[in-house]
Amino acid sequence: MTTTKRTSYGVKEIAELFPTLMKINDKSLREKVAAVWNEAITTGCGSKGWTFDELRAVKFTLLAGDIDMTFVEHLNSCARQCIAIADVLESSFRCGIPIQRDYLVAGALLADVGKPLEYDKDASGKVIQGKFGQQVRHPFSGVALAYKHGIPGEVLHIIATHSHEGDKVERSVESIIFHHADFVDFDIAKLLGKRAAKK
Ligand SMILES: [Fe+2]
Repeated sequence: MTTTKRTSYGVKEIAELFPTLMKINDKSLREKVAAVWNEAITTGCGSKGWTFDELRAVKFTLLAGDIDMTFVEHLNSCARQCIAIADVLESSFRCGIPIQRDYLVAGALLADVGKPLEYDKDASGKVIQGKFGQQVRHPFSGVALAYKHGIPGEVLHIIATHSHEGDKVERSVESIIFHHADFVDFDIAKLLGKRAAKK
């Protein structure tokens, strides 16, 4: 089922890409997150849609140079980092820290859900930022898509503010956690990409 394009992926299939989806306790939120991903996968790539294999082959970021890490691996890394960070913070902040885990995980999994819409393929099959992606970067298209599926405001906030577009906004606790996890990956990937380019 991973090689042909389908029109509908549910929780089970989306969790094959992103196993952390199953860490969302609220069943309805889990289903909504899967529904948002389903729409992004089937309508992205300049409306051509992505197969799972095509999506799995997409590099982590078009901005970080050529390193052996994929977009899907980056998402899974960030989602797992968020849970690990939440564990540490909850035992460190003796004053108490309000972390809404379901919103944190949903936000981590949806922050880049606009990327399948931002990205397209050129005539040679290379993944590029498409025309729509240049007009509307993924934090915006991600919010639009997630809003359509009834994703709560706390999670829309994480999607909206996770990247530099959110630098002027007071981020929530969950958004701060995701933003930093995201940039731990991104900054390291950029460094490794720079080193690889020198070789
Ligand atoms: Fe992002």
